[in-house]
Amino acid sequence: MKDVLIEVNLTKSQKVKPDSEGLAFGRYFTDHMFVMNYSSDKGWYDPKIVPYQPISLDPAAMVFHYGQTVFEGLKAYLSKSGEVLLFRPEKNMERLNLSNQRLCIPQIDGDIVISGLKKLIEIDKDWIPTAQGTSLYVRPFIIPTESFLGVAPSKHYQFIIILSPVGSYYKEGINPVKIYVEDQYVRAVAGGTGKAKTGGNYAASLKAQEEASSKGFSQVLWLDGVEKKYIEEVGSMNIFFKINGEIITPALNESILEGITRNSVIELLKHWGLTVTEKKISIEDLFEWYSEGLLEEVFGTGTAAVISPVGELNWKGKEMLINNGNTGEIAKRLYDTITGIQNGTQPDQFGWTMTIKDNEN
Ligand code: COI
Repeated sequence: MKDVLIEVNLTKSQKVKPDSEGLAFGRYFTDHMFVMNYSSDKGWYDPKIVPYQPISLDPAAMVFHYGQTVFEGLKAYLSKSGEVLLFRPEKNMERLNLSNQRLCIPQIDGDIVISGLKKLIEIDKDWIPTAQGTSLYVRPFIIPTESFLGVAPSKHYQFIIILSPVGSYYKEGINPVKIYVEDQYVRAVAGGTGKAKTGGNYAASLKAQEEASSKGFSQVLWLDGVEKKYIEEVGSMNIFFKINGEIITPALNESILEGITRNSVIELLKHWGLTVTEKKISIEDLFEWYSEGLLEEVFGTGTAAVISPVGELNWKGKEMLINNGNTGEIAKRLYDTITGIQNGTQPDQFGWTMTIKDNEN
């Protein structure tokens, strides 16, 4: 890893930390943030850690107009021996640069970002919650900052990392969620930006999400944007099904986000000797399997959601009650194993965790 000079300016007034118990998702932010700027003549420059603070921008800054933004999400844990553990951060860096490429944002040096992140977390280490099911969520993001109203890639950007102590993403915690299969709105199409982690994809999902939640569902399951036939992903996670003993998940395409938890789950399941198939899955087939009693488990995977069992799917008013609304065996085993690797209570056979050592900073 490169030696990067990161200026540090510590806060003079530390905030009161929330109670670790009963933390929800994304409501609290730590004392510091990492910031780095980009201009076309200097490249990425001036990486620094500063007190957490508002950003002041010109109203014409491009971030307010055309949505040229990207972000990532990863988590940090405090092990029992007091070490900070990050889960596969290099994968987030790879994906960030894929999103950058799609959104015409300059590539960023993942080593500099990881160095900055390690330093930031070390400074705000006391904010890492340790109650069961909690972690420190890391949100890196890039915004275009040039003041210009023409539709073009910005010439200036700001890269920021903020940290948030979190509990579970869904109010259901690790209990099964109810999901609405969306058959009116679509999230993304091949050739669009579905594969990138960009704000617009999430903005496009809000209307469907709002309607689904008014009907009592936690999230929507998106179908493909052309035929509304093939299953893609859920609003904040990828999706897996266990059909008659075999685990299947939609094959990646241009409109599905390549989840890092998805990738880890596939590796783990294969390591356990289970069959996992990535393929096109139609909603009609899923319903057929359900009617034949073959749909044994459904679960979502994501950084924020970790492993989230699905207890009910509703498609065009037809209800599929999965595993009697209970958490399935595979989802439970995956949840325990992945969170165990992440927080250091289970062996990391895959070399997925990165430790932040005090003397590195
Ligand atoms: C994550 O799982 O980290 C995500 O970015 C999903 C998010 C929209 C909460």
